[in-house]
Order: sequence, then structure tokens, then C-alpha cells
Amino acid sequence: MKKLFLIPMAAIIGLLFFQGTQKSETPDSPELHAVMKKMPKKVKAIVDEKCYGCHNANAKSEKAKSKLDWDALEATKKSEQIDAKAKIYEVLAKGDMPPKRFLENKPEGKLSEEEIAALMKWSAVKKK
Ligand code: HEC
Repeated sequence: MKKLFLIPMAAIIGLLFFQGTQKSETPDSPELHAVMKKMPKKVKAIVDEKCYGCHNANAKSEKAKSKLDWDALEATKKSEQIDAKAKIYEVLAKGDMPPKRFLENKPEGKLSEEEIAALMKWSAVKKK
């Protein structure tokens, strides 16, 4: 009887321990914590209008979705969110997004100078 009781106890302790180590894996740096959730409204509005359509969980393009899925990002680890931001910064710096081929048919999808600046300011990853 006693032994049977020990099994769930061990599982609970193991679970608590696991959660504890997961937390300590990402030392807190407030400005980077929950990177995507803290997106300023202005930035979010630009993303919703100019990026989200191709980069969401139900997007038609598997390629776009696999490279960047805004819906999934919020739930990913901080380190992955930071990597995603770095990638976003990179494509903006190069002027690669939205894709040129897409803009030929939909020129209104192009980012304005101010929008590029706002997105780049947001996505620039701060190094400690
Ligand atoms: C018309 C659809 C479309 C729109 C709009 C769009 N993207 Fe993309 N995006 C794609 C596709 C397709 C790819 C994959 C390109 C490839 O790998 O050749 C991609 C790839 C990316 C990548 C990954 C690049 C890499 O090399 O890993 C990032 C980051 C990205 N997009 C950011 C953005 C941002 C930021 C915006 C808004 C400013 C945006 N995208 C708007 C279709 C789109």
C-alpha cells in the first residue's frame, strides 16, 4: 500500500522539479520576456496588415508558415522568439518582405518607410 502511494508522489515531485528547471533555463531579462506578447500596438497593427496574412497557422503557403507563424510564436520559448525577431529584422533590412512577386500584384501591401522603421526598431534584438 505504501509503495503504491510513492509512485504518484515521485511523479509529482518530478514534475515540480522539471518545471523549476525550465524556468531557470531562461534567466529573466524584462525587455525580452514574452517578446511577442509585448509587441507595441502600433507594431502589431502593421504586422496584422502587412505580414500576418501569409504568416499564420492557416496560411496557404506552407513555406511562409513554416518559416514564420505569428500564431505559434507567442507560445514558443523565449530563445525562439528572439531568433524569430532576429530573422524578421534581417528580412526587413534586406527589404525581402513582403515578397516582391506578391507586391507586383498587390502594391498596397508594401511597407512604408515609417512602417519599416517601426518594425525594425521593434525587432532589433538587444544584446546584453
Ligand atoms: C504574400 C505573402 C507574404 C507576406 C505578406 C509576408 N511574407 Fe514573409 N514570407 C513569405 C514566404 C513565401 C516566405 C518563405 C520565403 C522563402 O523561403 O523563399 C516568407 C519568409 C519570411 C521569413 C523567414 C525568412 C527566412 O529566411 O527564414 C520572415 C522572417 C518573414 N517572412 C517575415 C515577414 C514579415 C516581417 C512580413 C511583413 C512585413 C512578411 N513576412 C510578409 C510570404 C509572405
